[in-house]
Amino acid sequence: MAGAGRSRGIGMSGASLEDQVASSLAACPNPRLAHVITRMVSHLHQAIREVQLTQEEWEEGIRFLTDTGKKCDASRQEFILLSDVLGASMLVDQINHSGDDGSTQTTVFGPFYDGLQRVIPHGGTILLRPEPGVDPLMVQGKILDTAGQPIRNALIEVWQTAPNGLYDVQDPQQPRGHLRASLNSRDDGSYAFETVMPVCYPIPMDGPVGGLLRALGRSPWRPAHIHFMITAPGHRRLVTHLFLADDPHLQSDAVFGVKDALIRNADMQSDGKRLMLADFYLG
Ligand code: BEZ
Ligand code: FE
Repeated sequence: MAGAGRSRGIGMSGASLEDQVASSLAACPNPRLAHVITRMVSHLHQAIREVQLTQEEWEEGIRFLTDTGKKCDASRQEFILLSDVLGASMLVDQINHSGDDGSTQTTVFGPFYDGLQRVIPHGGTILLRPEPGVDPLMVQGKILDTAGQPIRNALIEVWQTAPNGLYDVQDPQQPRGHLRASLNSRDDGSYAFETVMPVCYPIPMDGPVGGLLRALGRSPWRPAHIHFMITAPGHRRLVTHLFLADDPHLQSDAVFGVKDALIRNADMQSDGKRLMLADFYLG
């Protein structure tokens, strides 16, 4: 086998490895799948060649992905976290929700939604226990279609961390369902709920993705925000956040989720509560 090892990726057929993988998909009955895999493999091979990946680095990568899978369970999705910190989640969001139709900007879903939550009345609180020492916050506005007409009975699901920066599902000290709830818009599209001021918090750092961020010297912080998922028959589901203005991490969100149109003030009112105003437009 004179010359073996000198062909740099050219197989017995004379085709490059990339082309061999592409040919292996000729019988794939799903053209979209074949297209996506062909392009992904092409970029993967190109990247491996460009950085001249070593055998040790390949093994390290396999270990990292294995650990990422092992960290996943019913309440932890480490692969979504990986996608988030690599900017892939927001790129998919950008491609699929341009907002060109006048609907509200979208952002990452995040891993801490906990299924359909208890329903509260208009103006009700999403707290299950007091949070002393943090300013109360009223969030209110309207749910509208892109023509500005009110949408009644839209389902508005909201969730946020406690002042310690943890979601109820991460913190056994919090009652399950604390700082998350659902409510319905009224006939004029209006909604309102009471909460406390959201805080900035680090994304989970106790798994392989946290290890990667540390190795890269990257910030784990997300700026203070409240999550929203809004659904109404005949409209596209809206997954978004409201971010608090002046947060020091707005420019360096660990998951690249900040969009200017989603930043809001929360000014103190004469009743001692802060007020955040936000209308949402559903496409
Ligand atoms: C969140 O905002 O809950 C979140 C989003 C992406 C990754 C981690 C947390
Ligand atoms: Fe969050």
